[in-house]
Amino acid sequence: MTQELTSPSPAPQAAGPDRGRGWWRDAVIYQVYVRSFSDSDGDGIGDLRGVRERLPHLKDLGVDAVWLTPFYASPQADGGYDVADYRAVDPLFGTLADADDLIRTAHALGLRVIVDIVPNHTSDRHPWFTDPELARQRYVFRPGKGTRGELPPNDWESVFGGPAWTRTDRGDWYLHLFAPEQPDLDWERPEVHEEFAAILRFWLDLGVDGFRIDVAHGMVKAPGLPDIGHGAQARLIGSQVLPFFDQDGVHAIHRTWRRLLDGHREAGGREVIGVAEAWAPSAERLALYVRPDELHQAFNFQFLSAPWDADALRGVIDSSLAATVAVGAPTTWVLSNHDVVRHTTRLGGLARARAATLLMLALPGSAYLYQGEELGLPEVTDLPAEVRQDPAFFRGNGQGGDGASAADGSGDGGQDGFRDGCRVPLPWSGALPPYGFGPGGSWLPQPADWGRLSVAAQTGDPSSTLELYRGALELRRRLPGLGDGEMAWQPAPEGVLAVRRPGMLCTVNTRPGDVEIPLPGELLLASAPVAAGGTSAVLPGDSCVWWAI
Ligand code: NOJ
Repeated sequence: MTQELTSPSPAPQAAGPDRGRGWWRDAVIYQVYVRSFSDSDGDGIGDLRGVRERLPHLKDLGVDAVWLTPFYASPQADGGYDVADYRAVDPLFGTLADADDLIRTAHALGLRVIVDIVPNHTSDRHPWFTDPELARQRYVFRPGKGTRGELPPNDWESVFGGPAWTRTDRGDWYLHLFAPEQPDLDWERPEVHEEFAAILRFWLDLGVDGFRIDVAHGMVKAPGLPDIGHGAQARLIGSQVLPFFDQDGVHAIHRTWRRLLDGHREAGGREVIGVAEAWAPSAERLALYVRPDELHQAFNFQFLSAPWDADALRGVIDSSLAATVAVGAPTTWVLSNHDVVRHTTRLGGLARARAATLLMLALPGSAYLYQGEELGLPEVTDLPAEVRQDPAFFRGNGQGGDGASAADGSGDGGQDGFRDGCRVPLPWSGALPPYGFGPGGSWLPQPADWGRLSVAAQTGDPSSTLELYRGALELRRRLPGLGDGEMAWQPAPEGVLAVRRPGMLCTVNTRPGDVEIPLPGELLLASAPVAAGGTSAVLPGDSCVWWAI
């Protein structure tokens, strides 16, 4: 431990006119999947010291905040989303002192830190669950159906495949919306509420700037736990409120947490945000999670299921903005994360991925980047079964359309919907695996050609994806109002989007062929080489261009 844990480092201050407006409203937030980011001790698994040592990369990239996926004590049945102790760091990832160091170093570099909180379920190794008495009071246990209780209490299915119930050797059943090693907590119990408020305070005291709330739509279940109806779950998930997802009752929990976070600021602390990982059947229902007295942000996953098509993209953008404007919140944008097929592969190639990113970063709101997308990493689609770790793989259910953790729009070309392919450790330098990931190997094998995609290989190459991201994030900081200001669609040829933002026009050509347009202004940044001269410009196929106007 290098510092007193009880005196957190000051969070970065927003400068000038941004002060007091809410740092998160237009923040670019970088998701670190800790296990795969950087390994400091050579065990092949990324860790907190590895993250701390690489923070300068994120500073150079130009992001505002870092979101760390769970690094708490956990048997790792679901990549750490099965927490056994919410106040301890898993030895795989380091110590509490490493977490403290990381937060302090990030703050010193001007980066904020968001941690992941998993309140819908714990690990089955959590002390509440291993004690049979406590377990019955704090988790969802029910007697089985059938003459001898041999059938599950209802027809709910696990997001990872198979029934959402497991029978104990004492004969009753417990609910797990995810893996059997992730029993659902009973949020009707006051002890559960008290415990999570205490966990939030623990991490607030350590200096974090935000909480990403896992399965924020799942904690409350419909009274009586009613059946969905034979076989209907797969069809209904994501398109309507289910007895275990998006129940109105969850909002009371989020209001309590908002009061807790606001209370922290009012007592002289930092402005700490809550981000909902919520899957709601419509943009309007999702917006309910970011009403003024609820969470600050909710992930907007609409891009994840949008095809590369001008009308579809425009529809997603319009509906996302309209829904959040109605409640006075900014929207968020996500193209990739640790649960879905990387967008380079999902959209059908790097050219489209680069263009999609420039479009996302030109929109008002807050943008989430997933580690490695700044390198243009593709999904790894040929991982052998023996190295896979995604519990969904073993329970035989692709993640597509689960309404809780993925909507990958996959289905062919090796895009199997499982999640190890987007979690392959990052290449940092060198020509051979593990490409500077750490002094040992890497927990998932990296492709043989990733040396050319490493941070070192791309740095300084103006045509690289890394330099494109750096350039875009620098412009986003320089152009006032880009993150939170006005936006207007402009007339454009078929297949092309043109959107005017303060000081710039963003054009996107979603078709494969060139399109000629009247020259909009001076070229600021482009995802592909643009021919511009005289009075016209040629937008290459699958490209996005930012113009100064
Ligand atoms: C959503 C997380 O992003 C995912 O990785 C996890 O498997 C589920 N929630 C369950 O915690």
